[in-house]
Amino acid sequence: MTRAIAFVAGVLLAAGVAGCGLAGGGDDSGPGGDPGGSNHPEFSPLYSQYFNRCRSCHSPDGPMRPVGQPIESTLDFTTVDTAWSTIRSGEATGLQGSNAEACNGVPFVAGTYAGSLIAAVVDPDVRGSFSTGSGCDGDAVGDMTLKVGATPSDAFLNGLKTWIENGAP
Ligand code: HEC
Repeated sequence: MTRAIAFVAGVLLAAGVAGCGLAGGGDDSGPGGDPGGSNHPEFSPLYSQYFNRCRSCHSPDGPMRPVGQPIESTLDFTTVDTAWSTIRSGEATGLQGSNAEACNGVPFVAGTYAGSLIAAVVDPDVRGSFSTGSGCDGDAVGDMTLKVGATPSDAFLNGLKTWIENGAP
C-alpha cells in the first residue's frame, strides 16, 4: 500500500517535472491526463460537477461557513485532494443538536451507496431509507442540496454511486 502510493507519487512528480502532456511511458495517469494534475481521476469529475460547491461552508475559510454555530467539521472541500481524503477516510464530527449529533462518528463512505452518509446528504432516495442503527437516520441527516442551492444531476449521483461501489478510489 505505502509502496504503491510512493510509486504513484513518483510518477506524478516525474510527470510534473517533465511538464503536462507527457507522452509515452507512464500509463497510470489515465487517458489524456488532467490539466489540473489531479491525483484522483475517478473522483475529480465528481468534484468539478458538484462537490466544489460544498466548499463555501465546508472549508476552513469558507465565506458561508457558520460562525458560532455547529457544522460538520471533518469535511474539507478546499481542493480535490482535501475533498477526496476527508470523504474517504473521515467520519462526521462536530455535529450538535438532538438529532444531528447521532451522526457523529458515522463514516462518509460505507461499503454501499445506500449506506454512505455522503450520499444521504445529496440524494433524497438514500436519505429516505438511511439508518445506521444508532439514530443517524433520514431525520437526522440534512439536505445539503438546499444549502448549496442547486440540485445535483443524475449523472453526478450515478457517478457518486459508481465511485463508492468501486471502493472510493
Ligand atoms: C451553507 C453552508 C453549507 C453548505 C453549502 C454545505 N453544508 Fe454540509 N453542513 C452545513 C452545516 C451547518 C451542517 C451541520 C448540520 C446542519 O446544520 O444541517 C452540515 C452538515 C453536513 C454533514 C453531516 C450530516 C448532517 O446532515 O448533519 C455532511 C455529510 C455534509 N454537511 C456534507 C455536505 C456536502 C457534501 C455539501 C455539498 C453538496 C455540503 N455539506 C454543503 C453547512 C453547509
